Amino acid sequence: MSDDATYTVGNQEYPLLEGTIGPKVVDIRALYKDTGMFTYDPGFKSTASCESGLTYIDGHEGVLLHRGYSIEDLSERSSFMETSYLLLNGELPTKFELDDFIYTITRHTMVHEQLKTLYNGFRRDAHPMAIMCGVVGGLSAFYHDSTDITDPEQRKIASHRLIAKMPTIAAMAYKYSIGQPFLYPDNDLSYTGNFLRMTFGVPAEEYDVNPVVERALDRIFILHADHEQNASTSTVRLAGSSGANPFACIAAGIACLWGPAHGGANEAALNMLHEIGHPDRIPEYIARAKDKDDPFRLMGFGHRVYKNYDPRASVMRKTVREVLTSLNVSNPVFDVALQLEEMALNDDYFIEKKLFPNVDFYSGIILSAIGFPTTMFTALFALARTVGWVAQWNEMISDPGQTIGRPRQLYTGPAARDYVPLENRG
Ligand code: ACO
Repeated sequence: MSDDATYTVGNQEYPLLEGTIGPKVVDIRALYKDTGMFTYDPGFKSTASCESGLTYIDGHEGVLLHRGYSIEDLSERSSFMETSYLLLNGELPTKFELDDFIYTITRHTMVHEQLKTLYNGFRRDAHPMAIMCGVVGGLSAFYHDSTDITDPEQRKIASHRLIAKMPTIAAMAYKYSIGQPFLYPDNDLSYTGNFLRMTFGVPAEEYDVNPVVERALDRIFILHADHEQNASTSTVRLAGSSGANPFACIAAGIACLWGPAHGGANEAALNMLHEIGHPDRIPEYIARAKDKDDPFRLMGFGHRVYKNYDPRASVMRKTVREVLTSLNVSNPVFDVALQLEEMALNDDYFIEKKLFPNVDFYSGIILSAIGFPTTMFTALFALARTVGWVAQWNEMISDPGQTIGRPRQLYTGPAARDYVPLENRG
């Protein structure tokens, strides 16, 4: 083994593993056995938890690849269905394969009639993500024939069901919140067009899908389809590592995604832009973001991995203009966003800390222009990310080296001590 092929910890040498691209990885699987020591890495800032061939990110260069294809190419030239096929199967489909995949997904869009009754158990003002966690978890009670994770065919059916039913479930969560009847899917429409109709259509009228809005939303779905080992994906993998069924694992992913530091950020970013309200107030908010004693952060700025412009944010920025022009709406919040971005990118604090707009900075403006309430933003993210979760989950289950995820800890509680009977406690 050459010098650079190992890494020495204490007096033990550990192999260095090399992927196709990206940093090398020190294989410390034997560390505890060899040395009796653990590694300490809260937040996994230096820890690769698995091997994966799906998505590659170079945060310093602002690169995002799915199966080797750049996110710019995919969002410009592909569709969400094609990108989903790519993530699930590793290669771009032929025309026949794509048509067949779309046909299959389309035939799984309906949900069990009984599932509708689950919605009635929720308050009308429930957050759609709360409903999604419950309903998606509940799918395992309806589709017993696709919960045997050792059977690749069942895993495939479960994957198709999840991708296909997520728009129906999300649209139903929205309809429930506004007291309108649920709409059945229309299989003549595209995946995204169908979701728009189920969300904004009513049974009493025809719904015309606006092609610009359909394309913009489809692009948003592509941009959110997968993102390597982020918190929710790691949650899905960890849940799945115990052998939990796919519906339960995706419900766990939805729960994690809901957090404001993760999927909830686009909602928070739009709320912040509204709160700023006018470009004149931007300096005040930039000063607050820089103030160590103020917990306020610029939402939609900064990213654990990207220390450069998030490539997805560039696509979003362009898409905002297209949507606003097509819908003929002027949105003062967009001007606030553009000016805030410019000021922050020229501010030493943000330059030094490498804080750039992330995907969430602009997506909220598009979604709200389309008509989605802010509470639906994260639900849309969950809808799109389902394909990534499912693909990562499948990859994990198919990996012969897969084992239950079980992190260790640095224990700082009391050492062993004697139990004190109640009457002797002071
Ligand atoms: N505004 C102001 N300061 C910030 C921001 C921000 N948005 N983000 C990070 N910083 C500062 C921190 O205060 C910290 O400063 P310090 O070194 O002086 O203490 C430094 O930058 C590093 O911050 P960390 O929180 O350690 O960076 P980390 O990589 O762990 O966090 C995160 C990334 C959580 C995304 C953070 O940038 C953040 O909170 N951003 C706002 C929320 C957001 O937009 N989240 C969306 C993420 S994208 C997604 O999930 C799809």
